[in-house]
Amino acid sequence: MTETAAFRYDGKRVLVVGGATGMGAAAARAVSALGAEVVVMDRAPVDYPVDQQITVDLTDPGALDAAIDQVTGPLHAVFSAAGIAGGPAVMRVNFIAHRHLAERLVQDGTLVPGSAICMISSVAGLGWQNHLPLLVDFLATPDYASADAWVDGHDGTCTYMFSKQAINAYVARESYPLLTKGIRINAVCPGPTDTPLARANTWLGFDEQYRKATATAPLRADEIADVMAFLNSSAAAGVSGVSLLVDSGHVMSSIGGSWETGRPVIEFLMTQRSV
Ligand SMILES: NC(=O)c1ccc[n+]([C@@H]2O[C@H](COP(=O)([O-])OP(=O)(O)OC[C@H]3O[C@@H](n4cnc5c(N)ncnc54)[C@H](O)[C@@H]3O)[C@@H](O)[C@H]2O)c1
Repeated sequence: MTETAAFRYDGKRVLVVGGATGMGAAAARAVSALGAEVVVMDRAPVDYPVDQQITVDLTDPGALDAAIDQVTGPLHAVFSAAGIAGGPAVMRVNFIAHRHLAERLVQDGTLVPGSAICMISSVAGLGWQNHLPLLVDFLATPDYASADAWVDGHDGTCTYMFSKQAINAYVARESYPLLTKGIRINAVCPGPTDTPLARANTWLGFDEQYRKATATAPLRADEIADVMAFLNSSAAAGVSGVSLLVDSGHVMSSIGGSWETGRPVIEFLMTQRSV
């Protein structure tokens, strides 16, 4: 390989779930520019050129299976980017559907050895290790329907935070079994990032003081997408099981104590089970 070939996607076919807008769209554009053939799955229409577009509502398991049947493989990378901020479908859209899709693509052999999965978690998923027994119990559910039923039966788990903690725990736990099949799995944990979802939920205020103190702008979708593209590229061949903070150092300087202002809210996040 040349020095930069490991970062590229020439000859690779990539699936982006949630690629109509925001970070998913930015990831699709990034890997396309790096040489990939791109398949986008979303409930919304895609307004830029892709090789295959599949319409799906992730809250409907039958529709999801039909959408997976339409994916033309082999696939070398999956970006699981679809997500919502809350409501009764938050666990299905943010985690249960993505797990189902990943597991079917592995079982079907569509995701080939050497491939990789990158999910989008959040700073809201911090502290997942404190709740591992509950998360392991949830992750023991074998399929979409049983995971959905588990959430219905456990108060306080149908939340954005639990969906992101579930991603972090899943990514950590699956690194071993997936690597026996030659597949890696990682996630990014973005800080507030300027997308339609963040604007609709006023998330950009979360690190506003840190942004002012560091004279930096809010993160853009393409800045998260570049990290996702790296994690799913051969350049990250040694990286698996990681949920990587992409927040310009807001969380770490808060934990480390140099950014005192951030400490209370980060400590709150890290000790909460969910909200
Ligand atoms: N923007 C932020 O500040 C921020 C921070 C941390 C994590 N995240 C996470 O990043 C991910 C992407 O969010 P974004 O900010 O790019 O938002 P976005 O709204 O721009 O993108 C989300 C995409 O998911 C799709 N989608 C939503 N529900 C769907 C469903 N039921 N079926 C199929 N597709 C569906 C939407 O159509 C959209 O294309 C989400 O998981 C979000 O939780 C966002």
